Amino acid sequence: MTDKELRVSEAQIAVHWQEENKFAPTAGFIAQANMTDAEIFQRFSLENFPDCFKEYADLLDWERYWHTMLDTSAAPSWKWFVGGLINASYNCVDRHLQQHGNKAAFIWVPEPEDEPHVVLTYQELYVRVNEFAALLRDHCGLKAGDRVTIHMPMVLELPITMLACARLGIIHSVVFGGFSGHACGERIADSGSKVLITMDSYYRNGKLLDHRVNGDLAIASARDLGQEVEKMLVWRRKQGEYQSRSKMVEQRDFFVDELLADYRGVRVDPIPMPAEAPLFLMYTSGTTGQPKGCQHSTGGYLAYAAGTSKYIQDIHPEDVYWCMADIGWITGHSYIVYGPLALGATGVLYEGVPTYPDAGRPWRIAEQLNVNIFHTAPTTVRTLRKAGPDEPAKYNFKFKHMTTVGEPIEPEVWRWYYHSVGKGEAVIVDTWWQTETGGFLCSTMPALHPMKPGSTGPAVPGIHPIIYDDDGNEVPPGSTAGNICIRNPWPGAFQTIWGDHDRFVETYYARYNKDPESKDWRDWPYLTGDAAVLAEDGYYRILGRVDDVINVAGHRLGTKELESASLIVKEVAEAAVVPLRDEIKGRVPDMYISLKPNTKASKKIEAAVVRAIEESIGKIARPKNVWIVPDMPKTRSGKIMRRILTAISNGRDVGDVTTLANPDVVEHIRQMVQGDDTKTDA
Ligand code: WT7
Repeated sequence: MTDKELRVSEAQIAVHWQEENKFAPTAGFIAQANMTDAEIFQRFSLENFPDCFKEYADLLDWERYWHTMLDTSAAPSWKWFVGGLINASYNCVDRHLQQHGNKAAFIWVPEPEDEPHVVLTYQELYVRVNEFAALLRDHCGLKAGDRVTIHMPMVLELPITMLACARLGIIHSVVFGGFSGHACGERIADSGSKVLITMDSYYRNGKLLDHRVNGDLAIASARDLGQEVEKMLVWRRKQGEYQSRSKMVEQRDFFVDELLADYRGVRVDPIPMPAEAPLFLMYTSGTTGQPKGCQHSTGGYLAYAAGTSKYIQDIHPEDVYWCMADIGWITGHSYIVYGPLALGATGVLYEGVPTYPDAGRPWRIAEQLNVNIFHTAPTTVRTLRKAGPDEPAKYNFKFKHMTTVGEPIEPEVWRWYYHSVGKGEAVIVDTWWQTETGGFLCSTMPALHPMKPGSTGPAVPGIHPIIYDDDGNEVPPGSTAGNICIRNPWPGAFQTIWGDHDRFVETYYARYNKDPESKDWRDWPYLTGDAAVLAEDGYYRILGRVDDVINVAGHRLGTKELESASLIVKEVAEAAVVPLRDEIKGRVPDMYISLKPNTKASKKIEAAVVRAIEESIGKIARPKNVWIVPDMPKTRSGKIMRRILTAISNGRDVGDVTTLANPDVVEHIRQMVQGDDTKTDA
């Protein structure tokens, strides 16, 4: 489907939404909040740009203070805090030792409920980060600027590994543990990693999964793409006990716990890195098959993660903060690891699924650990609401603050979150942002703005959005939907796409730029790729992606990636994937395939397509259905009309199809998917 077609349909959906009543933060919340000064928006206004961001930079300890706030000479590559030297590991670990050394940095909650929690103090985090950094340096020969791929579950060793990399200026690329070995291998190859760090096993939904098997697949896939992995470091969930059926390869594979014995007590000085040195890569999906390695900086990123964690997450060192996202996504990087640790917070790290062994689990954890800040995605809220609407009331926990992130939350679901989970007292922030943006773009300021269910809120301090129509005219408040852009640079914004700077400029900055030679940031609005409407009250409502990306449970999957995976199955001639609305996950992929001539449709082919997708991307991408169709609906020029398939999948009317090359096939597909009764708009 074209951008325009999708946008129109999303906008049509939007007009059916009604304006919601607002909810005010409680006096109790306001009394303790980090930011209660409405002047902050004046300080961070466009007139005070970019100097306003000194406030965020000063939350950090600099090895050498920066001299230039923002250098735009290589527009649209923005350099923040130029001249500064800083180490992220030092800021997240060492600097807390004096005041908070014996305080928990993380409390790890294993999925099996009878296994004890593990408390990791800042002191112990310091020791373990140092020892592992020494291992990376001396055993692996890694140095600043090298890339390392990390494919690990939600265990303490994951932030330890990331911070050890950061200590040495090694660029980490964490791949979500649920991604397949093949997907991991592609990212290894793209980033040019020579070292893969993984783990033998972990618990998920009551089962001990063999994770180490993915390591061999990843290394083989990377090799096919021309990248040789020299070493695989394998953490073991149970020290000294190997829980995987894969054989360790001599000279290549090493158990971390065995190697660490040689590094006991070793300390590694944090390497002062230029503010604009890359801290990590985080891959995300785009319109073409190839995932994009978003490159984030050290100084700007960390300052932005710390500032937004302090003022929007309202984290104080004495809080117990639990973000249920996976560290393998940007949410986990910014709001489990870097932001909270920069502030000296205590974070909860949970290994498993929220509904294991039952939908009361999160509330038992919250009760036991006295969690008071809770952060999750609408898909999880929907799951918990469906499986156990009355569970929260059974437990004695009290949140002061809750976050929702990743996709729009339905007002109905928001109200359950507010009343049942927040018990009518917790403030909610609906944070809108992206892998590329490093931190929040829009959200209410928790002590300053009332909340509006289903709307993200106004822009956060220092972010100045603008909605453009397709011709580049500004769309005024209270009117239609358009392409939401950010007028100005900000320190958390990613620096480039690893290895593909042209694609970076083309995808994010070319759309509304009028002068490609300009060095003035005003000429380079950042294109988010989302459609949004701005209400009269200044609150934004995000309607969804305008590009070929499906947001599944708050995570982006590229349609091209899914379609290419289906084409691995040799009987498949063409594939088209569309988003299907889903009660729990928001959207799930619905796959249409047509077969090569003289091939008969079969359940076997359907299963092979599902398997191909799981193997090349991961279970997260599993399609709801695989529909084998005689032909795809096509325009006369041969373009597949995904808009029509989307309508069919979602039980909607297909509209006028008379201009298609093959209108008859539409009715055939409709009957196959929707059954015989004529359906109207749902
Ligand atoms: C896309 C970014 C942000 C970290 C997790 C996802 C959608 C994100 C919201 C929200 C409505 C949202 C957008 C965005 N999105 N947050 N609060 N309300 N939509 O990161 O995988 O890079 O996805 O998620 O469409 O562009 P991501």
